[in-house]
Amino acid sequence: MNILIIGSGGREHCLAWKISQSKLVDKLFAIPGNAGISQIAVCENISCSKENFGNILQFIEKNGIHLTIVGPEAPLVDGIVDYLSKKGHLVFGPDQTAAQIEGSKVFTKKLCMSHDIPTAKAEFFNKSELDKAISYIKGLKENEFPYVIKADGLAYGKGVIIAQSKEELLDALDGFFIKNRFGKSGQDIVIEEFISGFEVSLLCLCDGKKLIPLDLAQDYKKIFDGDNGKNTGGMGSYSPLPFIDEVLYEKILNKIVLPTFHALKDENINYTGVLYAGIIVRGNEPYLLEYNCRFGDPETQVVLPRLKNDIVPVLLDCARGSLRDIKLKWDDEKTVCVVLASKGYPETSSKGDIISGLEEIKSKKDVFVFHAGTKKDGDKTVTDGGRVLNVVAKADTFKEARILGYEAIERIGFNGMQFRKDIALKVEETL
Ligand SMILES: Nc1ncnc2c1ncn2[C@@H]1O[C@H](COP(=O)(O)OP(=O)(O)O)[C@@H](O)[C@H]1O
Ligand SMILES: [Mg+2]
Repeated sequence: MNILIIGSGGREHCLAWKISQSKLVDKLFAIPGNAGISQIAVCENISCSKENFGNILQFIEKNGIHLTIVGPEAPLVDGIVDYLSKKGHLVFGPDQTAAQIEGSKVFTKKLCMSHDIPTAKAEFFNKSELDKAISYIKGLKENEFPYVIKADGLAYGKGVIIAQSKEELLDALDGFFIKNRFGKSGQDIVIEEFISGFEVSLLCLCDGKKLIPLDLAQDYKKIFDGDNGKNTGGMGSYSPLPFIDEVLYEKILNKIVLPTFHALKDENINYTGVLYAGIIVRGNEPYLLEYNCRFGDPETQVVLPRLKNDIVPVLLDCARGSLRDIKLKWDDEKTVCVVLASKGYPETSSKGDIISGLEEIKSKKDVFVFHAGTKKDGDKTVTDGGRVLNVVAKADTFKEARILGYEAIERIGFNGMQFRKDIALKVEETL
């Protein structure tokens, strides 16, 4: 069968790599793809914005695509699944109504609150309620800070501000409602209590009726070592999580993820695709931070290389709404992913810098280089975005995986390359 992957990041390269190992696949395509994906899939440079859904449909029909897998959130929230399904095509991903789980933080918060799903306590305000929001903030106790303020809609990881004081919170509010920093996404906001703890990502595959969790992963959001500096799309990740015991895992599943899935069903929302729960754990109790409606990036890059099953039948079943009772099998090995970012990231990003060393590490066993922001320039591969490459290493222990991964990185170079040196360091001594 022919499969199309929509997207152009490390997540999509990893999906393409995993899917290309399936005997069920004849031809693999990607829209728009990147330099790495183009080595295993035929890439077509169409943008994934709503205006181009018609062009994507034409491409699917011309190339006899049997299954389309949507990577990024924006086309899902814009209704690409509804659009293609109505034309009779099989698509992996939630429809527009279900994608609200990521597309609207207000929607998700209200869903959690009305179904007793543990999450930070929150208040909601619309742009028309500026005065009400200001007096709410003025009424907060200074010693109860920080508070968190979030844009309702998609904001590419930039719509969340942790305010340390009333002044900072009022300033952030001004950014949302007066300066319109987030446009439509910031017309509604959530102000919520700050929960201090550690975060885990649990990605589940869903067919509307059933849900299968993937192994856990943790990602690193800050640009610098020691979790310092600005938030990014993700600077690294590792899997599995040795510090999550059975009791905590069951709580995450039974108090958060399954009740959410059932709550969606109660609201007649047929959730298919990936349901990604961003969880924060405080004192052994998990709380829902947010849901995403797609595979995580860079979590996918550490989870899929540990999956032994062929992923294609599972994705097909999800898209068809008929997930079988399969057991996913996982490698005992550990995976570590380090993101190589371009100069200036996350504020800006540098493009067109030549990447060296890629050929040299191609033959290294248990090292996978997934491309994110790259493109071909003649016979050279050049940078083309903030996050450029994801170097993933797999080994018996985190320590060995770290050594393998960081050794590979030493061979790669491009102007202004930056990466974190502490990915998975905190679990290095675990087995
Ligand atoms: N209530 C909260 N308490 C503590 N930290 C939070 C809270 N909400 C968000 N954060 C931090 O901000 C990050 C981004 O928030 P999230 O809700 O995941 O939005 P998005 O991923 O859309 O930017 C989280 O990963 C977490 O580190
Ligand atoms: Mg998040």
